[in-house]
Amino acid sequence: MADRGRFITVEGIEGAGKSTQMEVIGEFLGTRNIPVVMTREPGGTHLGEAVRELLLTPDNHGMATDAELLLIFAARAEHLHKVIRPALESGDWVLSDRFTDATYAYQGGGRGIAQARIGALEEWVQGSLRPDLTLLLDVPVEAGMARIEKRGRPDRFERENREFFQRIRDNYLQRATAEPRRFRRIDAGAPLEQVSREVLEAIGALL
Ligand code: TMP
Repeated sequence: MADRGRFITVEGIEGAGKSTQMEVIGEFLGTRNIPVVMTREPGGTHLGEAVRELLLTPDNHGMATDAELLLIFAARAEHLHKVIRPALESGDWVLSDRFTDATYAYQGGGRGIAQARIGALEEWVQGSLRPDLTLLLDVPVEAGMARIEKRGRPDRFERENREFFQRIRDNYLQRATAEPRRFRRIDAGAPLEQVSREVLEAIGALL
């Protein structure tokens, strides 16, 4: 049987540059002939992408925070069942743009849901599965917000205020400090080449 693949997640506030670094990592693994499934949350499956739409549309302004939390874990259960577990079991690597750390940061830090509640759902939906490596692309809130303002048509999360994103960033930083073996915090405000170099150093350490 093939060895289990590695599970890597990329996290950060809006505008931290996750998409660019996802591409950088994908290309790097390609050059090493490592089979990788690139995916995202919320999303990654037919059901998950439909849930993503429900979560992001500004039409659902004022959604109950528990509804938001449960939709995210419903999409995650499907993602684990259809994509993540089968890929890892067949020896492929999985690279996900966000995973459960985003739930602790956004629904916990941002919305104020108790961490223990999120922990109960994490246990239920994931069992013992956790990422092998989580890259936290860290930028000050002002820098992230300035980048998203240029994109136009903000989604339901992007419409939140500065304080919301500050609580999210703080929560991510606390998590990175609490789990230094799994997390690698990267200064994503640095020049792009430096960010990419640090990202690939962390990925290279898994090889
Ligand atoms: P994206 O902008 O990185 O594609 O992510 C979509 C939004 O979903 C982003 O604003 C963060 C939010 N989100 C949560 O609030 N909780 C979660 O668990 C995940 C995965 C995403």
